[in-house]
Amino acid sequence: MQPPSLRDRVSLAAALLAWYDFHGRNLAFRASGDPWRVLVSEVMLQQTQVARVEVAWVRFTGRFPTPAALATASVADAVRAWAGLGYNRRAVALHRAATAIIERHGGAVPDDLAALEDLPGVGPYTARAVTAIAFGRPVAAVDTNIRRVVGRVVAGHGWAGDPGLPLAASAIQAASDAMIDPGRPADWTHAAMDIGATVCRPRAPDCADCPLRTWCAFARSNDLRPQPRLRARPAVRPRPSSFAGTSRWLRGRIIDRLRELPDDGWMRFDDPIGVHSTERVAAAVAALSADGLLECDPEGRVRLPSPT
Ligand code: ADE
Repeated sequence: MQPPSLRDRVSLAAALLAWYDFHGRNLAFRASGDPWRVLVSEVMLQQTQVARVEVAWVRFTGRFPTPAALATASVADAVRAWAGLGYNRRAVALHRAATAIIERHGGAVPDDLAALEDLPGVGPYTARAVTAIAFGRPVAAVDTNIRRVVGRVVAGHGWAGDPGLPLAASAIQAASDAMIDPGRPADWTHAAMDIGATVCRPRAPDCADCPLRTWCAFARSNDLRPQPRLRARPAVRPRPSSFAGTSRWLRGRIIDRLRELPDDGWMRFDDPIGVHSTERVAAAVAALSADGLLECDPEGRVRLPSPT
């Protein structure tokens, strides 16, 4: 691996940012630099596509504009406002994070990596994204898109079916930290993600239109090789079973039903749901209860966790 020289890094960042100013995606959640709103968007983006996040983020941050607003609401309200995003455990974790922000940080999202990582539901990636985007610090948040972009620039591989040795995560992290623009860390982060999503695609990278091609080992080797450079996309593997047969689907449907209940309502889950037997439904209810996503009363009735 040949990391770009300092001079190259400066030119590369300038080219990336100039591209972003013109072609960057104009996403609703990028309009706010407020640390709480950025934290909410990054937690949502952990496992949900951008288009769904845009809609849900506007709704969620409208309802809970501050950590205090979420911490003083019930977990049930947080889960209701999480509708459309899936992986509902994140709503419970975010509620706990809001409480921790009040208790440990006086209601303000902390601005250092270690304190951020200590918050429930916040891992190293999310902590770095918030630090760069909300606090303007030059630490790179390496998601799958940035991993591919930086891996291609510095090591020339990272294409689908690449037989070369993948770069260690620590090497990609170090290269990304060296490449982030210290003057515009938030825009650099967004720009690198956008290049990965729209130009430096996994199987069909558009090197000819890429602002990074001058410094990119992959674009150079791509130029030298006979086309087509990339392997054909393998046939899509059929899912072993349909999504409706998974416990994730079942958990989602149980939470959807509970979202519809009025605040003081309870319901029972005594019947099969879809292809899932009564026993599987009971097991899913128990697992959701263990995750803090619902509560059961002694008679076996169930609701989202609400204040008594
Ligand atoms: N995925 C994770 N964070 C993102 C962001 N800020 N913009 C677009 N996609 C993302």
